[in-house]
Formats: sequence, C-alpha cells, structure tokens
Amino acid sequence: MYVNLPHTWRAHPFLRNSFTITTDKQISKVINFGITEVNIDVQKGIAAADILKEIVEPEKDFSEKADIVPDQLKEAIADKKMPPETKAQAVHLHSVNMMSKLFDKPNKKNIEQFKEGIVGVVDLILADNATNHYLMNITTHDYNTYVHSVNVGVLGVSLAKTIFAKSDHHDMHALGAGFFLHDLGKVYIDEAIINKPGKLTEEEMIQMRKHPSMGFKLLNETKQINEENRLVVLQHHERANGTGYPQKMRGNDIHIYGRICSVADVFDALVSKRPYKKKHEPFEALKVMKNEMMDHFHKDIFDKFVLLFK
Ligand SMILES: [Fe+2]
Repeated sequence: MYVNLPHTWRAHPFLRNSFTITTDKQISKVINFGITEVNIDVQKGIAAADILKEIVEPEKDFSEKADIVPDQLKEAIADKKMPPETKAQAVHLHSVNMMSKLFDKPNKKNIEQFKEGIVGVVDLILADNATNHYLMNITTHDYNTYVHSVNVGVLGVSLAKTIFAKSDHHDMHALGAGFFLHDLGKVYIDEAIINKPGKLTEEEMIQMRKHPSMGFKLLNETKQINEENRLVVLQHHERANGTGYPQKMRGNDIHIYGRICSVADVFDALVSKRPYKKKHEPFEALKVMKNEMMDHFHKDIFDKFVLLFK
C-alpha cells in the first residue's frame, strides 16, 4: 500500500510523509506512534481491501524492556559533520520518538534507558550553541505531549545553562531528565482528557491537575532522579503569585528548578498550535508572558529566558 500520513514529518518518526508499506512491522510502527488514520493512494499501490485479509496480528512484545533510545539519536549527536540545523531537526525528531516509547511503557528500566539517552542531548545543548539555537527554535509543529515534553526539556536545559553558568553545584544531567520528564504523570491521565480538542471542564481540570504529583510519585517509586531534581516534576505548575497547583506555593518557596520549568512550559504552550487556540510567534509569546502573566514568574528567571531569544 502507498500511504500519505496526515501529519508534518516532525510529528512522526518516518523519513517521509508518503511511502510504500510492505510489512506488518511498518503497520505496527504507524499504529504504535499514535497515527490513527492514513490516506491510501490506490494509483501508486494496492487498496486496503486487497491487503486486509493478508494482515496477521503483529506479535505483541510483553517484555519489560523496550529499546528506548533510537540509534538515529545517538548517531546524529555523534556526527561531527552534520550541519547544526539538520542535527537539531534529527535530535528533536528522535527525542520525540524516544519520549513516545517511554510514555508507552514508563517502567523503571525504560526510565533508566531514557535518562541515558537524555545525557547525550543535555551535553549537546551545553556544548554546541549552534545546534542548540536551532533546537530552541523548532516551534512549527502541532502540539502533543511528546513534542511538548522535548521542547520544555530543551528550553529548560538552555535556561538552566545560562542561570547556572557560574556554578558547578548542579547536576545538569539529572536536572535535564527532570525537565524532559516534567509531564510524565500524564501517563496516568485519561487520554480523552489529554487529547481533548477543546478547553477542559472543571471536572477534567481536577483530573489533569493530578499529573505533577503522579509524575513525582512514579519517579519516586522507581527510584529515578534524586528528590531535588524531581521537584521539577512536582512544581512545574506552581505560580509565584500562589495561583498554581498542586500546592499553591508562592515566590521563592517554589524551588528554582520548578520556577525554571514553569517559564519553559508556559512559553511552549503559547507557541504551540492547539485546535482551540492559535499559535503565537516566540516574540508574541514573550510579550504575553510579560504583559499578562508576569506575576506567575520569577522576574530574574523570565528576563534570562528572554535573553535566550536575542
Ligand atoms: Fe504539566
């Protein structure tokens, strides 16, 4: 079958939007990546009806451990000749792929593997300014939890890099893992709520507001990331003026790691397109944050964030 995927190429792990499907494994890959429909081009291939009877149920993988870190991610990071823009796109795409696999099976072994994969991405952000510039500016995409998690990871590490430039008291690998995993608790929230193409009702918001505590608990139970860095997950929706959740903390009671993550999180939500809201350009998003939300953030952290885009 020749298929066209109804998504931009950044929203899936395939090299092209259109290609020929020849194996059951490819079909499983499309399904496992959350793609629920494809357009079948019967001019270039055969129709679905002719092939349906030949499809065998793919073998299910019940093993605990999946291959979380894509080889392409390691290869792109290690490739010294790859131009920065291409490298940024490859690292972003395969990090999203890695994130989707983790959300599919968020157990101890997979979180461990994920953290190893993220070490390479964090080191790239810390050492390669050119690639990081492009990584931070990949915002032309539709919103989903995996893409959002990677964007907040990249922005969080970039901001922490500036704020902690003169200090070596911070474990950037563990902190980076905290940023990338800030929304991990969403694995426990009903998918219908996560993917709702509209604003949430009050009852749905009550469910949604559980994700910081659930993520914190999961990382605690699986003994992943020390407590200080886990606070990123617990506190990323706290607001300096006390209007956040889950603990309605205020000002400097919120850990600096949580405060950094909240700035990155809100910015990415504003620059992402959702079915019920338009996407803001980065400059517009910073303006909205400054003019309408400034009491949500710590001023020094927000000012340093703005400088990242100069
Ligand atoms: Fe969140």
